[in-house]
Amino acid sequence: MNTLTNKRILLGITGGIAAYKGAEIIRRFQDAGAEVRVVMTRAACEFITPLTMQALSGHPVHVDLLDTDAEAAMGHIELARWADLVLVAPATADFMARLANGRGDDLLTTLCLATVAPIALAPAMNQAMWLNKATSKNEADLKDRGILIFGPGEGLQACGDTGPGRLLDPEQLLQHCSEQFSSGVLSGYNVVITAGPTQEAIDPVRYISNHSSGKQGFALAEATVEAGAKVTLVSGPSQLTTPDRVERIDVVSALEMLEAVMERVATCNLFIGVAAVADYRPIDPKAHKIKKDISGDNLTIHLIKNPDILAAVAALKDGPFTIGFAAETQDVIRHAREKLERKNLDLIIANDVSDVSIGFNSDENRTTVISKTETKPLPLMSKHQLARKLVKMFAEYIEKR
Ligand code: PMT
Repeated sequence: MNTLTNKRILLGITGGIAAYKGAEIIRRFQDAGAEVRVVMTRAACEFITPLTMQALSGHPVHVDLLDTDAEAAMGHIELARWADLVLVAPATADFMARLANGRGDDLLTTLCLATVAPIALAPAMNQAMWLNKATSKNEADLKDRGILIFGPGEGLQACGDTGPGRLLDPEQLLQHCSEQFSSGVLSGYNVVITAGPTQEAIDPVRYISNHSSGKQGFALAEATVEAGAKVTLVSGPSQLTTPDRVERIDVVSALEMLEAVMERVATCNLFIGVAAVADYRPIDPKAHKIKKDISGDNLTIHLIKNPDILAAVAALKDGPFTIGFAAETQDVIRHAREKLERKNLDLIIANDVSDVSIGFNSDENRTTVISKTETKPLPLMSKHQLARKLVKMFAEYIEKR
């Protein structure tokens, strides 16, 4: 599987002779299925025009921090949040120095400060500049902060010198970036994930349901499979495309979801309940459409509680590591922690679904990871970024258990 499919790559281009290679980098990443947006420093524009990059990427190129037109199209914070990975190629010695010092004196450094996505630099500079102690110190500081450094390669340089400082080939950069999305931290795991809503029939044409789109659960299925696991996604009704290599089981009601989960959970070692399972279902769904001329002005539907799928999995003897999500609208942490304890879960991920910009059907989410002993709030990020972050955290918690 190509792990760059549908990934959002923010390509930063800084002012070195290798800037022209940005054109090929865009093409290679697009061929691999990624969406690429470009940010150039002012100096980079001396080497290759933003127009070329715009034509290739299919999106406006961002150059200035204080550009009102660009900000109106996609503001710099939005751009920082948009990215699944920031790749700066080429990264000059000056850019590395500014980033190492935490500067935010142009658009690209500001984006790097604002993003929660992984940042990778592909340095390209004269060999003496690369070997200079100041650059080595900056490189070490950047690595210390978790920033990835790809390369540089060695060989003949544009200035005639030979040595380290060449930008890695686009193919090598593609490979390194692709590896960031396939961590292998859940290699060998067998994972069952529930996602989406359930629909509880009132009659053949009506049902009780909720606003879950499946986005968060599908993103987790993708991140989990990319982390090396075998993944079964038990999904309520959702229009979303099944991620590559994920086995999808479609269900409609909570009872069907319970059955599908219980059939598969015995052989799994990690269960993640992301589905918004209806807590109640009509006790007596009608075989034919309820007619309003017969029912009159008031219609009473009697409901019965659905079984709790997550609690049932957590109660299994020698069951899997069990993780739930808590959709809350008030006292989010308190209610989520209460669910963690009542259902005897290993972890619960709390989200506030009263905020329409996160939670149900949004592309972003802000969550808190709660274990029996810890509460870890995470910043706002896309559901895909969150999924990758959570998968890494899950692997650490499983390791510690
Ligand atoms: O699908 P999206 O539009 O992307 O939205 C994502 C989400 C908001 C649905 C997701 O982030 C989320 O919060 N999922 C849990 C929704 C929910 O039903 O929460 P709850 O607090 O009611 O349930 C707690 C846990 O018990 C959940 O893991 C749920 O799957 C599970 N449960 C609940 C009831 C039930 N009968 N069986 C269950 O397994």
